[in-house]
Amino acid sequence: MQDPLKTLQEKNEAALLGGGKERIQKQHAKGKLTARERIDLLLDEGSFEEIGKFVTHRSKEFGLEKQQILGDGVVTGYGKVHGRPVYVFSQDFTVFGGSLSETHAEKICKVMDMAMKNGTPLIGLNDSGGARIQEGVVSLGGYADIFYRNVMASGVIPQISAIMGPCAGGAVYSPAMTDFTLMVEGSSYMFVTGPNVVKTVTHEEVTAEELGGAMTHASKSGVTHFRAPNEVLCIQGIQTLLSYIPQNCEEETPRFRSENELQGPIKALNDIVPANPNQPYDIKDVIGLCCDKDSFFEVHKDFADNIVVGFARLDGRSIGIVANQPAVLAGVLDIDASTKAARFVRFCDAFNIPLLVFEDVPGFLPGTDQEWNAIITNGAKLLYAFSEATVPRVTVITRKAYGGAYDVMNSKHIGADMNFAWPTAEIAVMGPKGAAEIIFKREIAAADDPEAKLQEKVEEYTDKFANPYRAAARGFIDEVILPENTRSKLIRTFDMLETKVAHLPRKKHGNIPL
Ligand code: HXC
Repeated sequence: MQDPLKTLQEKNEAALLGGGKERIQKQHAKGKLTARERIDLLLDEGSFEEIGKFVTHRSKEFGLEKQQILGDGVVTGYGKVHGRPVYVFSQDFTVFGGSLSETHAEKICKVMDMAMKNGTPLIGLNDSGGARIQEGVVSLGGYADIFYRNVMASGVIPQISAIMGPCAGGAVYSPAMTDFTLMVEGSSYMFVTGPNVVKTVTHEEVTAEELGGAMTHASKSGVTHFRAPNEVLCIQGIQTLLSYIPQNCEEETPRFRSENELQGPIKALNDIVPANPNQPYDIKDVIGLCCDKDSFFEVHKDFADNIVVGFARLDGRSIGIVANQPAVLAGVLDIDASTKAARFVRFCDAFNIPLLVFEDVPGFLPGTDQEWNAIITNGAKLLYAFSEATVPRVTVITRKAYGGAYDVMNSKHIGADMNFAWPTAEIAVMGPKGAAEIIFKREIAAADDPEAKLQEKVEEYTDKFANPYRAAARGFIDEVILPENTRSKLIRTFDMLETKVAHLPRKKHGNIPL
């Protein structure tokens, strides 16, 4: 009889090799790491504890009964990232192309259940040819078991998906239901149907990269929140993201020590907004100067860049930022900007991350394209998301706050806690020119010089309404502040709001306009 200790050692060694040396070499030749190498990069050294290393599939079709590979194509377990526990699964493409069998799915479900019970984030490293074709419906059931758990875990623990290889068919729906998706450029793809099916059905010729590569999903569809040039940077992205978010919905994000806490006035902020209200500026300059040095971590950087969202730290405290971007489309709100920001607001609210809004918005984007694609429903998502958010919420209006967009962008009326305005703020129903053209239409038409009359009326409207003082007089703005004092004001405000308690009315769940 073989020495039991030796048997265990041999099994462990076999499991570590996954699909074997040749397939590992193939994986490396494609510029990809193995499932275990990825886990090693992600987790603190020596912290990984594996679960289910010796699991094998139960399939008896197509000769699979003769191909039993320990672990069955997915490495699962737990470990730590920067000292904080996480659960992880990492699909092993060297084993049946990382395809998902019944047992492979069971392993993933097990760590999902454990992550839920223990209140820790779940990280999925996806590299899979989809459903294990030889298993048929059993494999589809496995996917559904995972989808169901994704939904149950939503809003309870953070779920992060890295796409590090193919991800096709229904397999894309698990990442889609997690909180954040990261893709690796050149080696990861996500699509419901691949280029061949597309060609057959719609006669479109498209490459896998164009159809569902990292750039496509980062910029066109917004399916991925981050793209990374390689796997190492992708994994570093996960680690950075985790540093801004709590372990679960009952906890707060650990506070970092801040290097530049309550510094004096930041004079550079006074010169950012140009004198000409139609001239753009970069809202990221404002974010950079107000938040802790180099702490801004942008989410959805390449998608709908007329709005900027991301995490930052303010005196070491993690916050979520939503900011109109006057440098792109004048910061107008459109369908993509609204859905992008709404999803981010909901994530922050679910996980106790206070929200800071920088507002400079001329309104919603007009046009048939927007109307026919439902800017009404999509804009309402952002309105809904802000209105139901119970975390501390603060707004700083730097310049324009016009029309419905004023209401939507975290106004006091929809529950914001403190709203500030810079002296350059223009809070009105619409821009002075548009307003003058409507309300003085007859007067302008009857004038000897309509152009001069229009100009006169624009100036009149500007003097009366294009400022923050009407809103401040009503208490819609709590204070008009000098830009240079914004950072210290925000630090004090979020300190003050730390003990905020707010509850939504009792309900099963709301009905966000989807
Ligand atoms: C079983 C699979 C597999 C699968 C790949 N393999 N996909 N085995 N089930 N789904 C195996 C291959 O047979 C091969 O085995 C090994 O994995 C590597 O695959 P290659 O094709 O050699 O690799 P590559 O050229 O890199 O191509 C990767 C690929 C391709 C693009 C993923 O394998 C592929 O198109 N696979 C099928 C994708 C698919 O249609 N899946 C089902 C989607 S539907 P050997 O032994 O030769 O190394 C779906 C439904 C889910 O997922 C529904 C949920 C609701």
